[in-house]
Amino acid sequence: MNIKRTSPSLVERDAAVSWHPYTQHGIEVAPLPVSSAKGSVITLEDGTEIIDAISSWWAILHGHGELAIAQAMADQALRLDHVLFAGATHEPAVRLAERLVEVTPEGLTRVFYSDDGSTAIEVALKMVIQFWQHQDQGQRRVFVGLEHAYHGDTFGAMAIGDPDPFFEPFRELLFGARLSAPNIKAITATLDELGDTAAGVILEPLVQGAGGMLMQSPAFLRELRALCTARDLPLIADEVMTGFGRTGKLFACDVAGIAPDLMCLAKGLTGGMTPMSVTMASERFFECFVSQDRGAAFFHGHTFTAHPIGCAAALASLELTLSRDVPAVLDKIGARIESKLREHLWEFGAEPSGASKPRVLGLRRQGGIVAFDLAHGEQGYLASQAPVLRQAATARGVLLRPLGNILYAMPPASTTVEQCDRIAEVLVELVEVASA
Ligand SMILES: Cc1ncc(COP(=O)(O)O)c(C=O)c1O
Repeated sequence: MNIKRTSPSLVERDAAVSWHPYTQHGIEVAPLPVSSAKGSVITLEDGTEIIDAISSWWAILHGHGELAIAQAMADQALRLDHVLFAGATHEPAVRLAERLVEVTPEGLTRVFYSDDGSTAIEVALKMVIQFWQHQDQGQRRVFVGLEHAYHGDTFGAMAIGDPDPFFEPFRELLFGARLSAPNIKAITATLDELGDTAAGVILEPLVQGAGGMLMQSPAFLRELRALCTARDLPLIADEVMTGFGRTGKLFACDVAGIAPDLMCLAKGLTGGMTPMSVTMASERFFECFVSQDRGAAFFHGHTFTAHPIGCAAALASLELTLSRDVPAVLDKIGARIESKLREHLWEFGAEPSGASKPRVLGLRRQGGIVAFDLAHGEQGYLASQAPVLRQAATARGVLLRPLGNILYAMPPASTTVEQCDRIAEVLVELVEVASA
């Protein structure tokens, strides 16, 4: 008997060995079998093309497969692949640090490298804690953040994030941070209460991403800067998502015209091509660690700190960002999607249309980030319609990942007008799907 054997598919092999992030394997449908990606399009194994409307978790900045970055990485790999960054240095790390100091807000003069957004946050938190200890103010250990904050999944990053719904299982193990409503009065009251135990204030400036694309005004940021300055407390800007043009300027802090004391960058730092992050610090922070005491050094480092290939990617990406004016390009993309949504969403009550019950609330945009809330159905990140809507979007050729009842788009700079219109069309269709 001639038994024909077919080899297992990628999805079948994946099911046997992979454990995916933020995935309930007991419920969710099979992952997309992706074979390649170029520009704003992801191609599946069977040739299906899907527009990446969320920049693959907010990382892909210019578009997939950006030649200049890939080339810079390849050249670097052949010249110097990896060397430890303790007791050694190299041109790509120094050059990137020089460029970052030039382009980030005034006063950020030191660059500490790490690997991803979460570790950039860990670094910032540890810097602040040790900074206070060096000044005999070790009691300053309580960070103040915003409700709905998300800063990553490592323990320090979880501790300053909103535990609902992501970190509930770990809540009791997290050091206590204080989360405040996003207004100056509430933050002032929290700082008053903390007195000399307050360590600093951390936030995702202008747009809180995972918490639901919640947007603040630049005026709020300016007031917060003034408040921290008045109390001599460090302001930490988590620009892991907002950095490199997502909000219409190179950094969200630029939109408000403020400079933080520490700034965390990742995701778009390398154009999304390879993991790398930095924590930028003001000279005052750096100086506070400089002494003749070895024990007063900043004890933090990762194997791949300042990885040369990552630095080369980031340098190439930064030059593209500046030469192509990526912040303006993304702003135009966001404006196009927003205007298309406004054309159609009024039917659902996003605008005062006389509809008895709006189906959509809070259409909002900052630069290349556009979002709105579905008014009906379950609310919150674990809302059961989210995976249904995700599948409906994929079936329509657009990769979206609703944050519970919040729909948003944040495509890369390569996105064409036609692709913007398709993204908007599918978002509108999802409102119908959610209401069905
Ligand atoms: C604002 C913000 N900070 C930190 C992180 C964590 O970054 P990573 O996933 O690279 O660890 C994220 C990730 O989405 C983020 O959006």
